[in-house]
Amino acid sequence: MGSKMKLVRSGNVQARKYKFAALITGFFLVTMTFLVVSKPQSVVISNFGYRTSFPAARTGSDNGLQGSHSATYSGGLDALNSQESERNDGKDEGEINDISGSTSKEEASTHEIKEESGPKSSNHVATNQAATHIALPTASNYSILEHAQSDSSIVPEKSGEQVQTPATRKPLCNVSYPRVDICDMNGDIRIGANSSFVMFVEPSATEQKEEWRVHPYARKGDQTCLNGVRQLTVKASSEGPQCTVSHDVPAVVFSIGGYTGNLFHDFSDLLVPLFTTSRQFNGEVQFIVTDWKQWWINKYRVVLQNLSNYPLIDLAAGDEQVRCFKQVTVGLRAHTEFRIDPRRAPNGYTMVDFARFMRSCFSLERETPSTIEDLAARKPRLLLIARKWSRAFTNSEEIVATAEELGYEVVVEEADVSSDLARFARIVNSCDVMMGVHGAGLTNLVFLPANATIVQIVPWGGLEGIAMLDFGNAAKDMGLNYVQYSIGMEESTLTEKYPRDHPVFTKPLSFHGRGFHVLRSTFMKQQNVKLDVKRFRGVLWEALVHLIQ
Ligand SMILES: *[C@@H]1O[C@H](CO)[C@@H](O)[C@H](O)[C@H]1NC(C)=O
Ligand SMILES: *[C@@H]1O[C@H](CO)[C@@H](O)[C@H](O)[C@H]1NC(C)=O
Ligand SMILES: *[C@@H]1O[C@H](CO)[C@@H](O)[C@H](O)[C@H]1NC(C)=O
Ligand SMILES: *[C@@H]1O[C@H](CO)[C@@H](O)[C@H](O)[C@H]1NC(C)=O
Ligand SMILES: *[C@@H]1O[C@H](CO)[C@@H](O)[C@H](O)[C@H]1NC(C)=O
Repeated sequence: MGSKMKLVRSGNVQARKYKFAALITGFFLVTMTFLVVSKPQSVVISNFGYRTSFPAARTGSDNGLQGSHSATYSGGLDALNSQESERNDGKDEGEINDISGSTSKEEASTHEIKEESGPKSSNHVATNQAATHIALPTASNYSILEHAQSDSSIVPEKSGEQVQTPATRKPLCNVSYPRVDICDMNGDIRIGANSSFVMFVEPSATEQKEEWRVHPYARKGDQTCLNGVRQLTVKASSEGPQCTVSHDVPAVVFSIGGYTGNLFHDFSDLLVPLFTTSRQFNGEVQFIVTDWKQWWINKYRVVLQNLSNYPLIDLAAGDEQVRCFKQVTVGLRAHTEFRIDPRRAPNGYTMVDFARFMRSCFSLERETPSTIEDLAARKPRLLLIARKWSRAFTNSEEIVATAEELGYEVVVEEADVSSDLARFARIVNSCDVMMGVHGAGLTNLVFLPANATIVQIVPWGGLEGIAMLDFGNAAKDMGLNYVQYSIGMEESTLTEKYPRDHPVFTKPLSFHGRGFHVLRSTFMKQQNVKLDVKRFRGVLWEALVHLIQ
């Protein structure tokens, strides 16, 4: 458990402090696990007592910057930026990938979770974690891995390690998927809650032995992330322990460790893949989870309950049960970042289905945004996603005034992850347009009515590809009207830190070649946005036009 934190900023002076803090936290987490497991009733659970301050950000690789119905507003000032962006598109992505691969251990800061506000399962844990400041890294290794796979010499991946040779039948696990290893089994499968094993029993196959070690979390190759994910053993055997419970429904086994707690990762790594994997069973599916996090389960209870009619089973519960199933899937089908590939999804599920499902889970009323008729009775609503720590709007009042002038009713909300998700979902769903600077808060776009407009504001620094990878594609897949607005140099508070002829402005993409941590600290953590409302007005106007079309 501590190992996740151990990696953070290893090598610098703070490392020792972190290690120490990690040890302490580790100790209390162990204590907690014990409490949760042995005396659940003794644990006071607080639902939403955690918060992430920084959003997702990772290297981009697939997809161009523009999609069919997205628009980009590039003012004169950042023309250089966009040009450069285009020019370097292919090449730089590769570089970014390499870099974030080799540095993501140090650059752990995008999702700093303040542990004081971290998963609170009981009071004493919360107090003792107050001293810790765990930083979860975010660089997705998905694209890195794809990049790396073309060169087999740099694929030392431990994920999906096969310990013994497979039998002649189809192997139990498929480790060729880029994001996650998946084990699909049909037959006599026994799962020991005690010891994290999934055993495929085939009495006939006396000689054949097959054993896999997998991490059932969709961020394959990201060792930092997987350090927080319990490894499972999936093996074939001619005999197994006696079943104590037999289930008629299939099981889906997954971890809620990794980067959970960051809204973006909750969706990209878990909820979307979980939907893809399990929606087909129409509730008749048993979820079995590792790395149990009660607060996470509480937060997404309504989603979990809509997907499965049965209470979750904690694989590490330490009970003596041996649960038997006829069908088991270990790992969640994750295709690309925050997306579903309908060609590979059961029933051809799409992100439109996912969004509809989310609206249904939270009983959100609006399937579609306001129509002209609605607008006769009420103003169109604009949700401005505010941020506090970085990439904040420095002139919110001015933005709000401009929007109101155009006839919007403006709602300003911080997509603080500690906020009540159901409440936030209702707010988002009540709006016709949502705008925000690139960050995890934009994940809330899943609650928008179909065809609503989402405006992603891309901070200075050639981050268009990342913006598209994280949210743009998903938004378009969901049928939203996606608008990407790249800020100009003068709209960035970086002008207060660097002279106009600094490479930050003249060659922002050169920073992409210097390590993802450099990229992040330069453009993500230290930048705020002062929107040029004269220019941005056009975007808000277009969004209105889209509504009444
Ligand atoms: C494993 O997954 C890969 C990649 O999707 C696929 O091409 C291959 O057919 C799968 N193998 C088996 C045995 O299903
Ligand atoms: C990402 O993947 C690459 C290639 O497989 C690997 O070398 C690197 O260690 C991984 N990075 C992390 C943070 O796990
Ligand atoms: C559970 O684990 C304990 C200790 O690891 C072991 O002695 C026991 O046999 C296990 N029980 C089952 C049913 O696997
Ligand atoms: C999810 O649950 C809500 C209420 O609990 C219900 O109204 C809705 O129909 C469910 N949706 C699905 C897709 O099961
Ligand atoms: C969204 O807009 C498109 C094109 O304007 C239209 O064809 C589609 O029916 C709309 N969808 C909904 C759910 O309103």
